[in-house]
Amino acid sequence: MISPIEGFSKLTKEEKIDWIAEHYTDNSATTKDVLKTYWNTDGKLQKLHDEFIENTITNYYLPFGVAPNFLINNKLYAIPMVIEESSVVAAASKAAKFWLERGGFKTTILGTEKVGQVHFMYKGDKEKLSQFFNEIKPKLISSTAGLTKNMEKRGGGITNIELRNKTTALENYYQLHCTFETMDAMGANFINSCLEQFAKTLKSEAQDSILLSNSEIEIVMSILSNYVPNCLAKAEVSCPVEELNEGASFSSDEFAKKMVRAVEIAKVEPYRAVTHNKGIMNGVDAVVLATGNDFRAVEAGVHAYAGKDGNYTSLTHAQIENGIFKFWIEIPLALGTVGGLTSLHPLVKVALEILHKPSAQELMQIVAVAGLAQNFAAIRSLVTTGIQQGHMKMHLLNMLNQMGATEEEKRILIHLFKENTVTHGAVKEAFQKLRST
Ligand code: MEV
Repeated sequence: MISPIEGFSKLTKEEKIDWIAEHYTDNSATTKDVLKTYWNTDGKLQKLHDEFIENTITNYYLPFGVAPNFLINNKLYAIPMVIEESSVVAAASKAAKFWLERGGFKTTILGTEKVGQVHFMYKGDKEKLSQFFNEIKPKLISSTAGLTKNMEKRGGGITNIELRNKTTALENYYQLHCTFETMDAMGANFINSCLEQFAKTLKSEAQDSILLSNSEIEIVMSILSNYVPNCLAKAEVSCPVEELNEGASFSSDEFAKKMVRAVEIAKVEPYRAVTHNKGIMNGVDAVVLATGNDFRAVEAGVHAYAGKDGNYTSLTHAQIENGIFKFWIEIPLALGTVGGLTSLHPLVKVALEILHKPSAQELMQIVAVAGLAQNFAAIRSLVTTGIQQGHMKMHLLNMLNQMGATEEEKRILIHLFKENTVTHGAVKEAFQKLRST
C-alpha cells in the first residue's frame, strides 16, 4: 500500500523520478531510464520546459509535421501540425493539393469577440439593481484603466458590460456579461484580470450605495468563457462539379452528391456528427498545438458551438448549386499569436514563422482551413475507398516498429503492402515469413 507523500513539489527532479519509479512502476530501473532518455541535453532548454508546469519529470514528445501546398486567399502556406495520429498530416496534404488545383481555400473572419462573466447573487429589487448598474458602469470601466491601457494602445479593450438577469434559471443569480477585443492575444489573463477588478468594484460600489443598502451582492466567481460564438472564422472551397473528379470509380457528379449526403447525415445524426467533427478537430488541434495555443479551450468552445441550437450537429456545410460544389466551415476559435507560449516555446516560434508570423485573425483562418481540409479528406475517403485503406497504410510503419522490424525489413514490407491490403494479421504474417527466409 502506497502512502501519500508530503512536499513532493519540493523534491529535486531526480528524487521525484526515484519516488515515482519505485512506488508506481514494476521495473523502476527501466522507468528511470525511459524518463531520462527524454531529457534535453541542452540544460537551458530543459529548464524552460521544467518550468512550464509543476513537477516536471521529463518531456513528452509528439511529432511535429508539416502539410504543404495550402493555398489560402491566394497565398501559399505550409501548415505545421503536432499530432500522433498517423494519417492526419498525409490527409491534410492530400486535401491541400486537391484544392490547390481548384483555386484553393477562401477565408474570412466573422467576428473576434471574447467573453467573460462575473457571476453573482442578489436578493433585492431587480429595478434597483438595474439602476445601480447603469450608475456604476462607467466606474467599472474606469477601475480597469491600468489593466486596459496597453490593450487599448493595440486597438483592443473592453467592448461592453451588460447586466444579465438569470433568476429564471437559478434563484437570485445575475451576471455581468462582458465582451472584449483582445487583438493578437488569446487574452485569457487580460480578461480574467479585468473581470476580477469588475467584481471588486461591483462589491465596493454596492457597499456604498444607497440604492442597494439592504441587499448584499455576493460575488461567486469571475472568469472568461471559452464559449466564443462571435469569435468566428469561415473557410470555404468551391469548384464546378465536373472539376471534382476524384479519380475514384464513380463520376464527379456522384462524388459531389455523396459528399453532400455525408454532410447532411452529420447534420441530423449526433452519433455521426461527433465523429465528423472529431475529424475536423484532428486538423484544428494539430495546428492549435503547434502554435502553442490552448487546445482544451478550443475544443470546449467548438463543441459547444456545434450544439448551440439544441442538437449537436456538423460544423461543416456542403451544397451543390448551379453546378458548383461548395464546402465550408464556420468555427469559433479564440487564438493568440502573442503572449502565452508563443514567445517562450522555441518550436512554437518556428511554427509561427513557418506560417509567415500571422496575426491572431490570420491564424484563426489557417486553423479553420486545416479543419475543413481534414474533414474533406476524411469524407472523401469514407464515401469512396473507405477510411481503413489510407489509415492502415499510414499505420503500417507503427505496426512494423512495434514488431521490431529493421530498416531493411521495413523497406521490403512497405513495398509489399503498396499492392496488398494492410491488416494487422497480414502484416504479422508477412513479417514472420520474411524473418524466416
Ligand atoms: C479519425 O481520426 C477521424 C475520422 O473518423 C473522421 C470522420 O469519420 O469523418 C476519419
